[in-house]
Amino acid sequence: MTTVLQTSGLTRTFRTRNETVEAVRGIELDVESGEILGFLGPNGAGKTTTLRMLTTLLVPTAGTAVVAGHDLVRDAAGVRRKIGYVAQSGGVDPQVSVREELVTQARLYRIPKAEAVARAEELAAGLGLTGLLDRKCASLSGGQRRRLDIAMGLTHKPEILFLDEPTTGLDPGSRADLWALIRRLNDEQGTTVFLTTHHLDEADALAGRLVVVDKGRVAAEGTSEMLRSRYGGRPGATLQDAFISITGHGSPEEDAAENDAENTTENDADAPITA
Ligand SMILES: Nc1ncnc2c1ncn2[C@@H]1O[C@H](COP(=O)(O)OP(=O)(O)O)[C@@H](O)[C@H]1O
Ligand SMILES: [Mg+2]
Repeated sequence: MTTVLQTSGLTRTFRTRNETVEAVRGIELDVESGEILGFLGPNGAGKTTTLRMLTTLLVPTAGTAVVAGHDLVRDAAGVRRKIGYVAQSGGVDPQVSVREELVTQARLYRIPKAEAVARAEELAAGLGLTGLLDRKCASLSGGQRRRLDIAMGLTHKPEILFLDEPTTGLDPGSRADLWALIRRLNDEQGTTVFLTTHHLDEADALAGRLVVVDKGRVAAEGTSEMLRSRYGGRPGATLQDAFISITGHGSPEEDAAENDAENTTENDADAPITA
């Protein structure tokens, strides 16, 4: 096993007019090539902020990381070439066709036109979008749109795919489809997957290893089984039991429902990227 991602003291502080938020306070993390890592934590734990730093969208206040062989701070462009990022709310243009969207994305990575067209078809085939290539993005269902978001994240064959809450808002059938797709991607292409989720069952089903973050730090890590037996407090404990004992919070899902206002601040984080 080789390490494809390693962080050291990764830290991000937000200064607003009247407060300082220590969103991420020294994350230490190793990700092995070919694994599916589940990054779990209560709302506000610092998951999205960590993901945004690791994908070069946000500059760390302190600390560093090596991502797919490139230094996050000194060689952000090198990192970007090796990773794919699927944000929580995808960014497709509703008025454009699926094919155009995929081709444009490939062109952004400077893939020549003919190759970009072929890549669009290849991705569509791999993600079950072939019959939808000439449909406007606006006409896609939630699950189809999510598959398109992922297709776009895979355009340049990234070594590591970062997914921020990939199944939020999907119906159970589409969730199951997406899980199968993520597993297949990992199995067949060997793509390393770094997955943030609110859903403990999703982490349990997909991730070989879980990292639980709380208040900007890694609070626990291991396989689901390890976390359950170490923190669950009783034989047959669930991941939920372990999660409560680690973070003092209920399930992250409950937190998410209670904290819609906080999710809005998360989107505002787009503003200070270059700060
Ligand atoms: N741009 C920002 N300005 C100020 N505070 C922020 C910003 N982005 C995130 N935060 C704060 O940082 C903390 C961690 O947020 P986030 O990384 O979005 O958590 P999670 O994804 O785990 O829910 C929260 O307290 C959040 O309000
Ligand atoms: Mg988040």
